[in-house]
Amino acid sequence: MPRINRFSIAATLVLAVSAFFVPAVLATPEHAKETGQPCITCHLDPKGGELNDTGFSYKTNGHVWPVVSSTPLLPLGGATRAVIGFLHVTSAFFWFGTILYVHIILRPRYAEKGLPPAEVQLGAVSMAMVGVTGLCLTLARVNGWHNFVDSRWGMLLGVKISIYLFMVGTAIFVVKVIGPRLKEGLLEAEHPPDGVFAPEVLAAFDGNEERPAFIAYNGKVYDVSNLFRWKGGKHFRHLAGMDLTAALAKAPHGAEKLASLPVPGTYDESRKPPKTMAQKVFYFVAYMNLALVFVVLLVIAFWRWWA
Ligand code: HEC
Repeated sequence: MPRINRFSIAATLVLAVSAFFVPAVLATPEHAKETGQPCITCHLDPKGGELNDTGFSYKTNGHVWPVVSSTPLLPLGGATRAVIGFLHVTSAFFWFGTILYVHIILRPRYAEKGLPPAEVQLGAVSMAMVGVTGLCLTLARVNGWHNFVDSRWGMLLGVKISIYLFMVGTAIFVVKVIGPRLKEGLLEAEHPPDGVFAPEVLAAFDGNEERPAFIAYNGKVYDVSNLFRWKGGKHFRHLAGMDLTAALAKAPHGAEKLASLPVPGTYDESRKPPKTMAQKVFYFVAYMNLALVFVVLLVIAFWRWWA
């Protein structure tokens, strides 16, 4: 019995050891199949044999694709990379979370009259953070431009970086070029040709900066510009440029105060205002960025499966 035991232990050991070695040797062209890479990605000679830098790092990484350079441009320890990775993912969450919240819940209309400064700041800070941490993480894994073409992992990284740069470019364009024009759209307090005020058109008559102060009540627009109590477009907590039908019902006075005021037109809540060019461009960029967010998320998901 002890003999059989010793024999079976030895047999198990031999089997285990050969199971460890055999696939490594026999499965060699399997590396090509497994990684989708041609032989020359890893071998100096396309027939096989001596390994190049990429093949070597593939081997030293425990035959794990993606290939990352064994001599990255920015050698960082695992803990440092984890901390930077945490900051990278967190700032990306802030950025994408803001885009999703703003585009799906608030809708781009919220910014039709100018970009809210707080959102611009949050966007700028999170984009910068994503960029700086992403650059560190990239430099910690690659040692040249070839890493962006010699593996699917690198190609997907390239796609992600391109989308990032494109989104930053459009963000700068929107803040510097479109944002100020969206605001300008507000300055033009223009009477609608047919005398029917849309909410957005009425909003321009807010009584600020020399603009007339109009309010809507029960489908009619009233000019309150010359009223002392509406100076600067403000009357207690009520603002000019708005429909105050509901508010007046709760006011200590009734609609008789409006009777003697000029009526520049009627008010139609459902009327769509004509879109300015800046607004059209803004809408296009806003929805394109929303789509790009999903492209980036898809790339991240595909990274695990395809690369
Ligand atoms: C993803 C990298 C990679 C690709 C692609 C690849 N190989 Fe290899 N190959 C290796 C590694 C690593 C070894 C060393 C053995 C091991 O550790 O698996 C090797 C070993 C070999 C060997 C044995 C040579 C020796 O000295 O042990 C041959 C033959 C070979 N490869 C042929 C090929 C051929 C043919 C292709 C293309 C169809 C190919 N390989 C594609 C990584 C790769």
